[in-house]
Amino acid sequence: MHALVQQEVRKGFILPRSAEEMATSVRSYFIAKDQDKIIGFCALHIYSPILAEVRSLVVDENYRKQGIASKLVAEVLQEGEFLGITEFLVLTYHDKLFKKLGFEVIEKSLLPNHKIWADCIACKHFPICEEIALLKKF
Ligand SMILES: CC(C)(COP(=O)(O)OP(=O)(O)OC[C@H]1O[C@@H](n2cnc3c(N)ncnc32)[C@H](O)[C@@H]1OP(=O)(O)O)[C@@H](O)C(=O)NCCC(=O)NCCS
Repeated sequence: MHALVQQEVRKGFILPRSAEEMATSVRSYFIAKDQDKIIGFCALHIYSPILAEVRSLVVDENYRKQGIASKLVAEVLQEGEFLGITEFLVLTYHDKLFKKLGFEVIEKSLLPNHKIWADCIACKHFPICEEIALLKKF
């Protein structure tokens, strides 16, 4: 999983995540597999009883455009809903994918402070961020 993330970190699409950080939060990930091989994943990161972030969405380059990411995000939303989450946040360059899944663009000023100081601060693009913030409400 870490190797897949690293490829996209280098391209600037994903925030850096250490192997240790991924290990301690491994239960928040939803995984797509081809037999025994991990080919994609997406995490549900909970901020509060109602707010969570859909993050670390990656699909192996060889398996893209087959609906794998869309299925992973749907699984994350389903689990979040089960836990009582009503607002799902995402920061992405792939706004089209998320719009298809019912997310709507929001102002970045609405992002929770925790996100900025825990994650954005570690990003090489901070503070000039071109990612698009989207929210899905249930
Ligand atoms: C963004 C990313 C996760 C998308 O993964 P994916 O599995 O290719 O996504 P999907 O297949 O669900 O959707 C991608 C496109 O394929 C289309 N598609 C889905 N199933 C399809 C199929 N069976 N045949 C043809 N096209 C299909 C979707 O409609 C979508 O089209 P769009 O680009 O016009 O919106 C992947 O490109 C990636 O890992 N990128 C690098 C990391 C990154 O940027 N992550 C996002 C951080 S939030």
